[in-house]
Amino acid sequence: MNYQHITLQPMSGALGVEIRLPDGFSAAAPSAAIVAEINAAWLEHHLIVFRNLSLSPPQQAEFCGLLGALDVYPFLAATSEHPNVVPIIKEPDQKLNFGGAWHTDTSYMEKPPKATCLYALEVPQRGGDTLFANTTSAYAALSDGMKSMLSGLIGVFTPSMVHGKQGAYSAKQLNLDTKEAPDVAEQRVLHPVVRTHPETGAKSIYATPVHCERFENMSRSESLPLLNFLYEFATKPEFTTRLNWQPGTLAIWDNRCVFHNAINDYQGERREVHRVTLQGELPA
Ligand code: SIN
Repeated sequence: MNYQHITLQPMSGALGVEIRLPDGFSAAAPSAAIVAEINAAWLEHHLIVFRNLSLSPPQQAEFCGLLGALDVYPFLAATSEHPNVVPIIKEPDQKLNFGGAWHTDTSYMEKPPKATCLYALEVPQRGGDTLFANTTSAYAALSDGMKSMLSGLIGVFTPSMVHGKQGAYSAKQLNLDTKEAPDVAEQRVLHPVVRTHPETGAKSIYATPVHCERFENMSRSESLPLLNFLYEFATKPEFTTRLNWQPGTLAIWDNRCVFHNAINDYQGERREVHRVTLQGELPA
């Protein structure tokens, strides 16, 4: 793609670009050509990052909405300023962070969000970075034998291991404004372990052990060795990049081909980010 309006700065060899927008760009009155380039950069690089923005919750929703329809997250309350903008805050006295394991967002929903858009308001003096992995490149690097074994393999995806009664986020250790959604928390849906991107046609590893309980017709203990292999393989350094947040950073990633992991290395400091997700489709 020959970008005429935006400039791209690669973040690593694996994925991610920082985008510089043309002076005067406004998400309230966007030029179709610029939005098309932002969308193309997102599809090409899987993770796009903007710096030095100043976005209220409605403005964040407006900006993210340039790339698709806004989704609703079932487990956390939105800010009063916008129904689709969810604050994710870790207070200085809180030990556990939200999203601190490799995963792709909300893959336990029937139609998981295609994108997550995270905007930083407050960041620790050091630390609090997020890691991202390109699971398309990881899939491509698997052997033909492994690819053929994975072909047609179906995963049983559920939020229960994280958001269920016995889940890692139970007992409100997160100190976040949670929504009770017991039916959703225990639901199970079937998705392919390797999914095909509906827009690019590329195949990507899609299952991680935090949301994929097991393979269909297998137990968890039978499934875990392969699940663990896949996410460890997909998160090898050569498939990853690392984002250092500053107040005003907005990152938008493609959940269909990216895993991420929020690093919990800033105990005693506060971090506040606001999350918007964009509606996706049935994984195939
Ligand atoms: C998430 O998993 O959505 C949160 C990621 C982060 O806070 O960096």
